[in-house]
Amino acid sequence: MNLDQNKTPLFDAIIAYTKRDIAPMFMPAHMMGRAINPKWTDFAGENIFKMDICEVDGLDDLNEPDGVIMEAQRLAAQAWAAKESFFMVNGTSGANIAAICSVVSEGETIIVPRNCHKSVIYGLIISGAVPVFAFPDVSDELGLIGGMDPAEIERVYGEHPEAKAVLSVVPTYHGVYSDLNAISEIVHMRGGVHMVDEAHGNHVYFHDKYPAGGLRCGADLVTQSTHKVSGSLSQSSMVHVNSDRIDLDRLRFNLQMAQNTSPSALLEVSLDLARHYMAVQGEGVLQRVYNLVEYGKAEIESIEGFSVLDRRIAGSCHIFDMEPGRLVISAKDLGVTGYALERALIDDYGIQIEFSDNFYVVCMVGLGGTRSDLDRLIAACREISVRHKGEAPLAKWRNKLPKMAEAVMTPRQAYVSQTEKIPWEDACGRISAEMIVPYPPGIPAICPGERINDEILRFLGDQNEQGRHLHGIHGGTLDMVRVVK
Ligand SMILES: Cc1ncc(COP(=O)(O)O)c(C=O)c1O
Repeated sequence: MNLDQNKTPLFDAIIAYTKRDIAPMFMPAHMMGRAINPKWTDFAGENIFKMDICEVDGLDDLNEPDGVIMEAQRLAAQAWAAKESFFMVNGTSGANIAAICSVVSEGETIIVPRNCHKSVIYGLIISGAVPVFAFPDVSDELGLIGGMDPAEIERVYGEHPEAKAVLSVVPTYHGVYSDLNAISEIVHMRGGVHMVDEAHGNHVYFHDKYPAGGLRCGADLVTQSTHKVSGSLSQSSMVHVNSDRIDLDRLRFNLQMAQNTSPSALLEVSLDLARHYMAVQGEGVLQRVYNLVEYGKAEIESIEGFSVLDRRIAGSCHIFDMEPGRLVISAKDLGVTGYALERALIDDYGIQIEFSDNFYVVCMVGLGGTRSDLDRLIAACREISVRHKGEAPLAKWRNKLPKMAEAVMTPRQAYVSQTEKIPWEDACGRISAEMIVPYPPGIPAICPGERINDEILRFLGDQNEQGRHLHGIHGGTLDMVRVVK
């Protein structure tokens, strides 16, 4: 049945509720804004707080939807062409945990890209599943994690035919797409489930110039951060299911487990409105973003020492395509790291970018991006170029990742074990209870349950000495590490 995408059932219901003559005797205790600190209402106004209600008369329950939330989710399913869609108020972090627990159980194998988001590792810890890792290509030339070669998935399947599911992360933070069609085909030939962490790709469904999303490429389930790319409020995400390979009752249970029992109506409504916006206006808005990024890329590439990543790198390093709405800039030829560029942009020009690494800064030209913001960025880059003219380019980044450590335990077994903190130099031979991820490239050198060996000890020690960012470990430095007792 064709639904009317102009409708906003959840938003309409909440507005209607706020107009009723209600004596509020329910949580939250501020009672529709009456007891909000005036410091806040003076700035933000009052209406938004009237909407901070949950599970009141006529507003449905996200955990057992049968009214306006169900209707809003059905509209979302149609907009993304999914069989079934679910709203999520604990982000794609919560969605990944729920999804993993829905496709694999304790002791079952799942193929996971080694550069997965930490929420995937949390999903492994909670599910008790056994991860086997597939490695994406890494380009030393570009200093970038490339795509996942479908042949790598075949290789890992060859070694682990018992695998029940494969998880892909597409697009990456830098906008890299892998060949999802080919991966889905391999997974389904093997009788598995293909789930895609599409945290950064919720919007691509609404314009033909953008790459095809997971749901169009045979994925059985995708998790998406609507808040990152499609204009809903922070923390609001969606899970879409597209095949009979997913047990929906189990997924519903796990979504409840991974999120709040008093979900914020503001977040739910924002998902309803983001769906409406994308379904009704998405094509035009994405065209505008596309044009802006094209303009920004052309201008920035004309600045001495600056370069951008875009679709020209597709075809190398198993990169199937690039997200065209992301502006990924490098000043490496001027000897300026991405970290330093980020610092200069915020400190000297008041430009807040999304993310930086050794070579790049990732600038979001989101749905609300403007030409004047871009012009500010371009002008800043011009000045930075003059300031650093003649400086030596950054040394080529060498991808010398150590061989993967021996997995002695599952992440869950390491998690439930007694652990202790020991000095890093004493860690050789011990089983790590934490994940340590040198950045770049963002591929964990060690995961919970893996034995720290001499090579990894030396590798991470070197990375630490070179000041490379180490994610995952407490405090970001290698003084102490948590290991299984
Ligand atoms: C690939 C990937 N997956 C999942 C997440 C988590 O998303 P959320 O912020 O919606 O919890 C992120 C966040 O940056 C991410 O980059």
